Amino acid sequence: MLLRIAQALTADELRQVRGLLETADWADGRVTAGDQSAGVKNNRQLPEESAAAQQARHIVSVALARNPMFVTGALPRSVYPPLFNRYGGTANDFGDHIDNAVRTHAATARHVRTDIACTLFLSDPAGYDGGELVINDTYGEQRLKFEAGDLVMYPGTSVHRVEPVTRGERLACFFWIESMVRRDDQRRLLYDLDMAILALRQRGDSAETVKLTGCYHNLLRMWADV
Ligand code: NI
Repeated sequence: MLLRIAQALTADELRQVRGLLETADWADGRVTAGDQSAGVKNNRQLPEESAAAQQARHIVSVALARNPMFVTGALPRSVYPPLFNRYGGTANDFGDHIDNAVRTHAATARHVRTDIACTLFLSDPAGYDGGELVINDTYGEQRLKFEAGDLVMYPGTSVHRVEPVTRGERLACFFWIESMVRRDDQRRLLYDLDMAILALRQRGDSAETVKLTGCYHNLLRMWADV
C-alpha cells in the first residue's frame, strides 16, 4: 500500500526544519548504505547525532505522533529515528535498490524491521528539477514528487530510486517503520476497514458500526505483534 499524507508538517514546522537543515554540516550519504546500495548512492546526509538532526527529528516525530492517518496507515510498533538527506550539485541521485530488511540504530543498538519506508518531502517541487522518488511494485512504476510537508509511506519490499536532481536542491526526511502488522496486505485491509468505519460513523453510530469496529479490533488482535 502506498499512502500519501498531505501536510504532515505544518508550514511553521516546515520552516523550522528547513532552517535547521540549511545551516547544518552534511556528510556523504554512503555512511548508512549497505555494500550494494553504496555503489548507486550519491547524495548527502545529515550525521545522525548532530544537533541539527536531533532538533529536526524531534519536530518530525511530534508531528507524526499526532497524525491519525500516520498511525492508522502504519500501525507503528517501532520507528527508526528520522534521517535527513539532500540531493543537488554533484551528489544528486540514488539508483535502484531495496532497503536493508533490518536497521540497527547505532546509538541504542535497537533493531527496526523495515516493513514500511517513509519519505517526507521538505523542498518546494518548483524549486528543483528531477529528484522524483520512483517506486517499482506490483502495480507498476510510481513517480512521486510531492509538495513540501507531504509524506509518503510505501512497502519496504519495493525497489526504488531517486532520479538525478538537475537544478536546485531536494531536501527530504526519510525513515522506516516496524509495524505491529508485518504484512502489507493485512495492513491494507485494516486501513480500508478503518476508513470505511470512520465514514459510516459520520452518519451516526449504530449496532452495525459497533459490530464492524469489533471486527477491526478482532482482526488487529489476530495479526498484531506488540
Ligand atoms: Ni532506499
